[in-house]
Amino acid sequence: MPQQSGYDFVVVANRLAVDRVTTEDGGTGWRRSPGGLVTALAPIMAQSDGAWVGWHGAADEPLEAFDHQGMHLVPVPLSEQEVEDYYEGFSNATLWPLYHDVIARPAFHRHWFEAYRRVNRRFAEAAADVAAQGATVWVQDYQLQLVPAMLRELRPDVKIGFFNHIPFPPPGLFSQLPWRHSVLRGLLGADLIGFQRESDARNFQRVVRHRLGYYIKSDQVFVPLDAPGPGEDASVNGLHADPARGTAPRQLTAPTEGGFRVAEAKAFPISIDTDKIVELSERPDIIARSQQIRRELGEPDTIFLGVDRLDYTKGIRHRLKAYEELLRDGKLTVGEACLVQVASPSREGVASYQRLREDIEGAVGRINGEYDTLAHTAIRYLHHSYPVEEMVALYLAADVMLVTALRDGMNLVAKEYVAARKSGQGVLVLSEFTGAADQLRQALLINPHDVDELKAAIVKAATIDPEDARRRMRSLRRQVVSNNVQRWAEEFLDRLAAQP
Ligand code: G6P
Repeated sequence: MPQQSGYDFVVVANRLAVDRVTTEDGGTGWRRSPGGLVTALAPIMAQSDGAWVGWHGAADEPLEAFDHQGMHLVPVPLSEQEVEDYYEGFSNATLWPLYHDVIARPAFHRHWFEAYRRVNRRFAEAAADVAAQGATVWVQDYQLQLVPAMLRELRPDVKIGFFNHIPFPPPGLFSQLPWRHSVLRGLLGADLIGFQRESDARNFQRVVRHRLGYYIKSDQVFVPLDAPGPGEDASVNGLHADPARGTAPRQLTAPTEGGFRVAEAKAFPISIDTDKIVELSERPDIIARSQQIRRELGEPDTIFLGVDRLDYTKGIRHRLKAYEELLRDGKLTVGEACLVQVASPSREGVASYQRLREDIEGAVGRINGEYDTLAHTAIRYLHHSYPVEEMVALYLAADVMLVTALRDGMNLVAKEYVAARKSGQGVLVLSEFTGAADQLRQALLINPHDVDELKAAIVKAATIDPEDARRRMRSLRRQVVSNNVQRWAEEFLDRLAAQP
């Protein structure tokens, strides 16, 4: 591993690519994180002197950089106050709800943004310190939108990619953000800005055109070389660059001379480690476990499954309402049907998540109290995270997967379910407000706000003609098998390498 010259490939993400684990002798160790992003990038890291810059998840704990399974890990420290203001505050109580169609109301606090700016600078400096001359740096997600421009200031020699894993909101919503110019300029520091859906890339281009007046053609944004950096904000420092307010010259015609650099903004829908899920779904012990799950639930005719982080964007309430009404209407019967809902703990320091948990658990208790029998439960609710082996066993056990998100950048659970269903059986009910709906066209697509439509889809899924189900699943599987997360990373990085 190079120490002096730096690393050729640097990933910058809010979370480090490893999780802390307790070893057998009671000490602490690290295990590579199981998510698709880490799985896709780990081999590239190992081949090309890779470093990963990220927060290790604890507050007020400085940690030296270390190597782990072919990856150089650079922990970025956060104080308790920064966890509150940058992570729980600006990232997850301002940006997250704003970017997810204001399903929850975003809070705007100047001291949260100040912490966001400060922490983004720390990430940018850490990346600048480890990147080799001419390295490729790939910045991930909404927590770090100022990093591209900050890094460009520090290291104009590196190639910078950015990928936004969550939706990018329409201009009317994005424009609520008091620091909208800073965020746009932060992102435009990248050579390539990737989004999940075409509509996200379009939203971004529209707001750049409207707010900054930059010329855009075929996904190429022409950024003036003298554009202010992310440290300056029109709404703070005077209205120096807001064409919407008529204070800056419009640049909406094609630039004829120099003085510009180009940033490309384009969709790259992410996927999963398909081979790994397929392999697990064929493992005899996991198949046996799936059969055991069905037995333990009392061999119902139809097992419905929901798997989500406990997040208000996931439409868990809407799902429960539809299911409850079907029990009430007698269209579903406890014993014949069972809903397994895995809700993994998430962002428990944020008030809206605490309220959501109370709400969901109240609803589950009420529904079970009303419809359970001594032998059977209506909803098996699990507030846990599980290893991927157990998730695949659940996918194999479930006849119907319910993905009812109100807004979701992609939704990888939908793709994992499909990958696990090699038999061709099983039905995916999928919200049209997920990125996955752009590709998984043969799912039963629903609008989760339309309770009657959702109920009809649930009934259809439970009673579908097996040949229709197999035909749909075959087509869904073709999509997920030919587009895995490795291919996604390759396409993004090839495109980034091709930037001038
Ligand atoms: C989403 C975001 C990720 C984030 C993950 C878990 O998928 O796009 O950036 O890491 O949720 O959330 P957490 O706040 O626990 O990192």
